[in-house]
Amino acid sequence: MTPDEKKQQVAKAALEYVVEDTIIGIGTGSTANYFIDALASIKHKIEGTVASSNATAERLKSHGIPVLDINGVDEISVYLDGADESNRYLHLIKGGGGALTREKIVAAVSKRFVCIADDSKLVDVLGKFPLPIEVIPMARSYVARQLVKLGGKPVWRDGFTTDNGNVILDVHNLQITEPVKFEKELNEITGVVTNGLFATRRADVLLLGSDDGVKVLD
Ligand code: 5RP
Repeated sequence: MTPDEKKQQVAKAALEYVVEDTIIGIGTGSTANYFIDALASIKHKIEGTVASSNATAERLKSHGIPVLDINGVDEISVYLDGADESNRYLHLIKGGGGALTREKIVAAVSKRFVCIADDSKLVDVLGKFPLPIEVIPMARSYVARQLVKLGGKPVWRDGFTTDNGNVILDVHNLQITEPVKFEKELNEITGVVTNGLFATRRADVLLLGSDDGVKVLD
């Protein structure tokens, strides 16, 4: 199977994790898009959705799926989203699509986080995929210098602006052996809005599309 076929396979399997008559959170990216397309077939079974990006909101609306403002929502039963990497403890790197901040907010509000990915995303140590960091534009150079001190090689995602009006630094050369500690350390740098480590709030379940069917890690 191609990576895209594995993403489609896992997106369909994730429908089982949708809690009927509740509000569900929806991630961003190609795997999340396959999930949205699958969700359209059972849209009458849910109360509505909260979107983690403008692009996701548009895709949901194009299927006639209601999108709600998260500020008016007390509880999200389950959050479904992809990832760029996951380790075996379900600590993730996310933000390849630049939506990490809103993704982290929706994940924080959600009771359960179900991550969906093709099996190439499972790694022993996080960091081969450059870690995205959303930064206030005027702090870009300062934050980049601090990241170099931590051993990373930050690269400005030139020409890209997040839904929140900020910039992204993609940090190469990392081997993240203590994701919870490193996530907190990065958050302490002035000017950092969010980093793409989802370790403090990790996934609760990881579904992996593979040649042998969907594998479940929890
Ligand atoms: C977007 C994300 C995505 O979940 C991540 O980039 C994976 O994308 P894809 O499903 O296209 O492989 O974090 O900000």
